[in-house]
Amino acid sequence: MMLSRREFGTAAAAASAAALATAYGRPGWAQAPVVIKYSHVVANDTPKGKGSFKFKELAEKYTGGKAKIEVYPNSSLYKDKEEIEALQLGAVQMLGPSTAKFAPLGAKEFEAMDLPFAFADDAAYLKAVKGELGKFLMAKLEPKGIKGLAFWDNGFHMVSANKPIIKPADFQGLKIRISGSKVADQYFRKLGSIPQILAFSEVYQALQTGVVDGCENTASNYLTQKFHEVQKHITVSYHAHLQYAVIVNSKFWAGLPADIRDPLEKAMNEATEYTDSIAQQENNDALDAIKKSGRSELHMLTPEQKKAWQVAMQPTWQWAEGRVGKEVIAIMQKAASS
Ligand code: LMR
Repeated sequence: MMLSRREFGTAAAAASAAALATAYGRPGWAQAPVVIKYSHVVANDTPKGKGSFKFKELAEKYTGGKAKIEVYPNSSLYKDKEEIEALQLGAVQMLGPSTAKFAPLGAKEFEAMDLPFAFADDAAYLKAVKGELGKFLMAKLEPKGIKGLAFWDNGFHMVSANKPIIKPADFQGLKIRISGSKVADQYFRKLGSIPQILAFSEVYQALQTGVVDGCENTASNYLTQKFHEVQKHITVSYHAHLQYAVIVNSKFWAGLPADIRDPLEKAMNEATEYTDSIAQQENNDALDAIKKSGRSELHMLTPEQKKAWQVAMQPTWQWAEGRVGKEVIAIMQKAASS
């Protein structure tokens, strides 16, 4: 049977409406997938980079495609400060900033985790964040409209410059880039250096051009950002720990239907276990690669040298009571001694 143009139009419209209804299936007029933009500032080939892709893979699988995760690594969407603002405005749905960057969110307590030599090793860090410390800190985000989903590990900081830094006096007068924490600012000041906050994406150039003399970071970040190519000496000091908190906008999260939010939480839990399980190895491998590159000389501290750093940085703990509060410090100390 031939249809007139008008009849064809009507039939086509009816057919496409029927197709839509079938595709989206009543009951449950279905929506396009929920898109979650996950912005972060490091390279893909790092614990956080890999963890983000693990979350994407699991989240899309467990929601059966009802959620789509778009990962934007390497400050490709936003730099440090902008991404926090973007989360608050709802322009991005998920971030994994280092906890050193949480003061602008109104949660200075997170900076307690930057205290020098706070965690004896990675196991001590994991125990603390999975226990009372983790709960205490995440609760601080709630009144700010932010929900903390997980802590992600990235190991311990090294420090570098174009001269060897072996004893505390070697820091004297060095301009050191820090990521934002006032606690880190303070421990570098106690060592006689001059800390300066810079966005992560600006560090390589600042080191290369001498805007700053040195920086601190984990091996995986040194390697993937090529900091080791513009720093002649790296001290494997492990003087502080670097970790992230994966955060979302509370309203956005609470507004998700349970059949999406629950599988996303499951995906986040598994991605967290995965990230924590690879962090140490990733950093060890990165350190090996830095060593092999021959671009930067690595210095290990003897126990006596490390002790001298600890003594010089120790006053930061007391100073920090006025910044982060005694409560969080007591929780950390309890975790460390139990
Ligand atoms: C930094 O800014 O130094 C780091 O915290 C970046 C990161 O996310 O590891």
